Amino acid sequence: MNEFMRKLLMLPPQASTLARSIDYLHYFVIITTMIGAAGVAALTLYFLIRYREGTGRDRNPPPDTRPHHARGGVSLWFELSVFGGLLALFVVWWIIGFSQFIRIAEPPPDSMTIYVVGKQWMWSFAYPHGAGSNGVLYVPAGRPVKLLMTSRDVIHSFYVPDFRLKTDVVPGRTTQLWFEVKEPGRHPVYCAEMCGPGHSEMRAEVIALADADYERMIQGLAQAQVAGPVQGLAIPFEAEPREPLSLAAMGQRVAAEAGCLRCHTVDGTPHIAPTWAGLYDAVIPLADGTQLIADAAYLTRSIMDPAAEIHRGFTNVMPSYQGILTAPQIGAIVEYIHSLRDVSRSPGEAPLPAPIQGTVPLVTPLEGTAPGEPRAAVPNSTGATP
Ligand code: CUA
Repeated sequence: MNEFMRKLLMLPPQASTLARSIDYLHYFVIITTMIGAAGVAALTLYFLIRYREGTGRDRNPPPDTRPHHARGGVSLWFELSVFGGLLALFVVWWIIGFSQFIRIAEPPPDSMTIYVVGKQWMWSFAYPHGAGSNGVLYVPAGRPVKLLMTSRDVIHSFYVPDFRLKTDVVPGRTTQLWFEVKEPGRHPVYCAEMCGPGHSEMRAEVIALADADYERMIQGLAQAQVAGPVQGLAIPFEAEPREPLSLAAMGQRVAAEAGCLRCHTVDGTPHIAPTWAGLYDAVIPLADGTQLIADAAYLTRSIMDPAAEIHRGFTNVMPSYQGILTAPQIGAIVEYIHSLRDVSRSPGEAPLPAPIQGTVPLVTPLEGTAPGEPRAAVPNSTGATP
């Protein structure tokens, strides 16, 4: 019955432990609505033939001789029971659907956590113990897996038809989705939220492996990262954290490991490089006299290509982290900088200046700005005045 209905409705294989129960609700809804629709169609056909032109049938209702209150008495009860029946049907759907929702929303406590970052137009995955992959998500078959997902740019949606699961992936937020794949196999992943010209190309694949194969694959991925220019850098994980780190907390650890915090302070103290305190969404002056907003896109560009847009008052001594940090790591660092948005730039100092209109006069870097003065750029690494 299940196989027959699945093929009839042209549904993909039921590869996750949740898929079958979701299909059962689907069948239930389809079958009851089809029966209802068939009943209406049959009645229409019957009336069409019975009262067709030329039959000479009397289409007027028969004269009603009953008193007014009795009229419609029977039909009222009939109407109520039809209405009640439909309501009951809806409530049954709702109860089944709600219990499924609860099941989908609560990952089993022994789930393995994998971090997912969506961006225009690819999916990247970061595993426990520092391995990472792009476009292919490796999972162990027969074990519950929890995905913690975020986006670097716009809203995407992680959709695996074979698992009957779909969850939006939202910038600045972490959404979760869990599943258990029944057996080893490959399953396509699509982006199900229009996210730009590359939306239809934003695909990936889930490859479910037997436990031993999975361990080998993850070790291989981790080793490939150590061997590459990454030097073992990866989003750090607890061995199997019960409470996974927030993305910002991961960003803090990545930033510490990658050496970002040797030049960037996080409490507003002036140092070699612009402080991250209150940096996110701030208007910052650039060396070429223009200014821009330090949003996620700018921060990402600065990590990849630090020389392109230099904060006025600073000398660029930062290496590019292109190919050194992975997409999830950069996403985590940007999220960390975002979390520092409301930290004041320097203790006791006035908050960020209002956006400056038009061209801005050059600011001479100051040694030790007095509290209350407008924020000035901090000395560059050489201490020289430009
Ligand atoms: Cu990402 Cu559509």
